[in-house]
Amino acid sequence: MDEKPLMKSKERVRQHGEVFTPKWIVDKMLDQPGIKEATENLRATFLEPSAGEGAFLVEILNRRLNLAYQQSNSLREYEENALIGLSTLYGIELLEDNVEMLVMNLMSEFEMHYYDAIHKYSGNYSNKVFQSAKVIISANMVQGNALTHLTQENTPIIFSEWKILPKKYGKHKVERIESTFEDIIEQNESNGSASTAHQDEQLDLFALDEEQEEDTEEVPKLRYKVVDLLDIGQQIVEEIA
Ligand SMILES: C[S@@+](CC[C@H](N)C(=O)[O-])C[C@H]1O[C@@H](n2cnc3c(N)ncnc32)[C@H](O)[C@@H]1O
Repeated sequence: MDEKPLMKSKERVRQHGEVFTPKWIVDKMLDQPGIKEATENLRATFLEPSAGEGAFLVEILNRRLNLAYQQSNSLREYEENALIGLSTLYGIELLEDNVEMLVMNLMSEFEMHYYDAIHKYSGNYSNKVFQSAKVIISANMVQGNALTHLTQENTPIIFSEWKILPKKYGKHKVERIESTFEDIIEQNESNGSASTAHQDEQLDLFALDEEQEEDTEEVPKLRYKVVDLLDIGQQIVEEIA
């Protein structure tokens, strides 16, 4: 039984339309054909543009982490698959306290599954994995306005693509590439991809071609060194692009 309150106050409902989705509806929506398949694909991207405390994103993560376990033959493989499944989940939320809960709920879900996996594989906890999850969640969950595409500081919302490179010496490397939300939307519109107007539709995020990437250069973005997937937590900024 779901006992989580669906409203915090009448004022917040009136001002921000804040009503949280009950778990049974989340499950039903995520079981819809097309959506279900994407929840079962570690690399399929989800963006929840009014994420609240993460009703949808936390359940998608739960399903992804179960899948990561099924697809892994060792703890190391689970750690990589779990981070890949996490790295493709994105959220935007207007209110600070909701963002804090969103980040905390995703982190707790990740940790709970990680402790389970450690137990099942009789392995050891790695702080590197925990730190990498933390960096991914704080980059992917943005406090901002999904309608204006701006953060609380009136700067453009920037998302990171975690581009997983082919395995080398048995390890995945990752390249972190930043794009503004504005550019992502424009690119999706010109590609005729899914609209952000609908929660939880799969978006073809980060499909910028080289020409369009050049158009966005006036927006300061960070460039990151390519690192092992489990070293995202220690990723170094190379230069300001
Ligand atoms: C109906 S609630 C849904 C929350 C969550 N998706 C769920 O299903 O439980 C809408 C959420 O959108 C947030 N919100 C309202 N306007 C927004 C905007 N312009 N940009 C981003 N988030 C917004 C509210 O603070 C609230 O948490």
